[in-house]
Amino acid sequence: MDIDPRVLRAAFGRFATGVAVVTTLAADGLPVGLTVNSFGSVSLDPPLVLWSLMRRSASLPAFLGAPRFAVNVLAADQQDISDRFASRAEDRFRSVGWAPGAGGVPLLAGCLARFECATHRSVEAGDHLVFLGHVERFEHRDGAPLLFFSSGYAALKPGTDAVGAAA
Ligand SMILES: Cc1cc2nc3c(=O)[nH]c(=O)nc-3n(C[C@H](O)[C@H](O)[C@H](O)COP(=O)(O)O)c2cc1C
Repeated sequence: MDIDPRVLRAAFGRFATGVAVVTTLAADGLPVGLTVNSFGSVSLDPPLVLWSLMRRSASLPAFLGAPRFAVNVLAADQQDISDRFASRAEDRFRSVGWAPGAGGVPLLAGCLARFECATHRSVEAGDHLVFLGHVERFEHRDGAPLLFFSSGYAALKPGTDAVGAAA
């Protein structure tokens, strides 16, 4: 089968996901982060998660060189943060609430869940690198998630069974 990457991308996009900002601290001490929807839970014991980073990402050296990263799972009212961390804004962290977690890795305020991870492994996979993280600390709260579907943001339908979502 001849695969047209644009059509494949559209098909991949039929899998609805949440949205997260993955953050780390670069070797120069600057906070780094980008929006992802490739986050996934992998294992409970040991506790492992994964996400993938495109090879041409400007953030690649920071994540390859960092011993830790954090996954900040966005709530429905954080679409502006998703846009900001997917943009070319010079300082994505400006005017965003955050505080340093373990190892100085930025933790964003107002998220539905946050996972502080030690980088377990990175695996080259085509035009992306897959990062596996060992969860060392985490927290979560009730609330509605920011969703991504078919190249656009989405929301849970009112009345669906989301923990804490407005019905
Ligand atoms: C909803 C959404 C999901 C995204 N998911 C990913 C992803 O999983 N991996 C990735 O490398 N880029 C993803 N991106 C694109 C990056 O956020 C975007 O290209 C960003 O500008 C990369 O920044 P950088 O080059 O500074 O790393 C996503 C963007 C959006 C809006």
